[in-house]
Amino acid sequence: MSATQKYTAAVVGVGKPKQPFKKGGGHAIGHIHARMFLRSPRVDLIAGADIASENLAYYQNEFNVPQGFKNYNELFREAKPDIISIGTYCGLHLPIIEAAARAGVKGIICEKPFLNSPADIDPVRRIVAETGVKICVAHIRRYNPTMQRCRQLLRDGVIGQVITYFSGVEGWDLSEMASHWFDLIRFFHDDKPVKSVFGQARVRELRGYGHAMEDHAIAYFEFEDGARGIIDGGRGLPNGINFIISGTAGTIRVMGEHTVVVDTIAGQRIEPCSHLRPDGWSNLGIADSPDWLPTWDMMLADLMRWIEGGPAPMMAMDNALKTFEVNQAAYISSIRGDRVDLPFDAAAVAINDYPVEILARRK
Ligand SMILES: NC(=O)c1ccc[n+]([C@@H]2O[C@H](COP(=O)([O-])OP(=O)(O)OC[C@H]3O[C@@H](n4cnc5c(N)ncnc54)[C@H](O)[C@@H]3O)[C@@H](O)[C@H]2O)c1
Repeated sequence: MSATQKYTAAVVGVGKPKQPFKKGGGHAIGHIHARMFLRSPRVDLIAGADIASENLAYYQNEFNVPQGFKNYNELFREAKPDIISIGTYCGLHLPIIEAAARAGVKGIICEKPFLNSPADIDPVRRIVAETGVKICVAHIRRYNPTMQRCRQLLRDGVIGQVITYFSGVEGWDLSEMASHWFDLIRFFHDDKPVKSVFGQARVRELRGYGHAMEDHAIAYFEFEDGARGIIDGGRGLPNGINFIISGTAGTIRVMGEHTVVVDTIAGQRIEPCSHLRPDGWSNLGIADSPDWLPTWDMMLADLMRWIEGGPAPMMAMDNALKTFEVNQAAYISSIRGDRVDLPFDAAAVAINDYPVEILARRK
C-alpha cells in the first residue's frame, strides 16, 4: 500500500455517551477513537459494534456511521474493515483481537490496560504470528510534547544518571489510569529492560471496568541498569508535580503534562512544552487541540505506516507487552508477597484471571 492508500475503519465497544467523569467506566473512549478516524483524510469510518443498542445508535448518529452491529463477529464478516479500534474493557481485548485478526483486519488500536492477565500474552503473540495483524496499544501520552522533551533532556544527560522516577496518580489505580505512568517511565528510560518488581495493594470492595479494582496500590521496579521506578496508584504528588526524576547531577520535575523544570548545580530552568509539537502533529486549531487529541492522530499515522511496511512504532504490541508485564507484576508481587523477576516465570504466565480479582477473593 502507498502513503495515499485509504483505509476503512470501525470501532468495537463504542462507549456510553454523556456519562459524568468517574472512575469505573463510561468514558466513551470509543468516541475519541471515532473522532481520530474522522480527522484522518485517509480513513473512512464505516462501522461500529456494541452490545448496547443505545450506545450504538448514539455513535452512528453522532459520527454519521452507516453500519452498526450488536455482534463484533458480524461486523468483521460483513463490513470487513481494514483497521479497528477496541474501546471495551480489558477482559474482552483478547477475544476481539483474535476474531478481528482471523477475519482479515490489518491493524488494531487497542485500549489499555492491554490484556486481562498474563495468560493472554502467549495467545496474543500467536495470533500476531499467524495472521500478521499489527497492534498498537493506546499509550498515547508518549507523543505528548512534554514527555518527549523530558526524555530528550534525560538522553542529553542533564541530570546525570537517573536514580529514581517517582510518580503518583491521585484517586486512581495502577492499571486503568497508571498503566500510562508505567509506560511513560519506560519511555523516559528508553524502553530499557525492567528486571524486577515489588508491589502491594489494598483491595476491598471496589469494582470498575469489568473487574475488581484496588483502593490503593504501589509499584516499585528496577531497571537492569539500576534505575528505579516508583508509582503510587492512589496518592498524587504535591504542587502539580506529575513525575519527579532524580539523577546523580540534578532533578527533573514534570508538571502536569505541560512543563518541565530542571534543577542542577547550574540553576533552575523552567520549560513550558506545549508548543514543542513533534513532526506530524495534527493541524487542528489551538482552541480545540489540547495536547491530548493530536497524540491519537500520531498513533493512527504510525499504525498506517507500519501496515505499509514501515517500522514498528513505539506503541507496537511487543513494546506495550513489556509495560503490561511490569504493571501486572506489581499485583502478582502482592499476591505472592515476594519480588517478581522479569520476564515472567511459568507460574506467573499461568495466571488467567485479572490479578486484582485474586486479591479481592482473599479478603
Ligand atoms: N487511552 C486512554 O487515554 C483512555 C482514556 C479513557 C479510557 N480508556 C480505557 O478504555 C477502556 C474503555 O473504557 P470506557 O470508560 O471508555 O468504556 P465505556 O464504558 O464508555 O464503553 C465500553 C463499551 O463497550 C461496550 N461493550 C461491552 N461488551 C461488548 C461486546 N462484547 N462487544 C461490543 N461492545 C461491548 C459497552 O456496551 C460500552 O459501550 C478502559 O479500559 C479504559 O481504561 C483509555
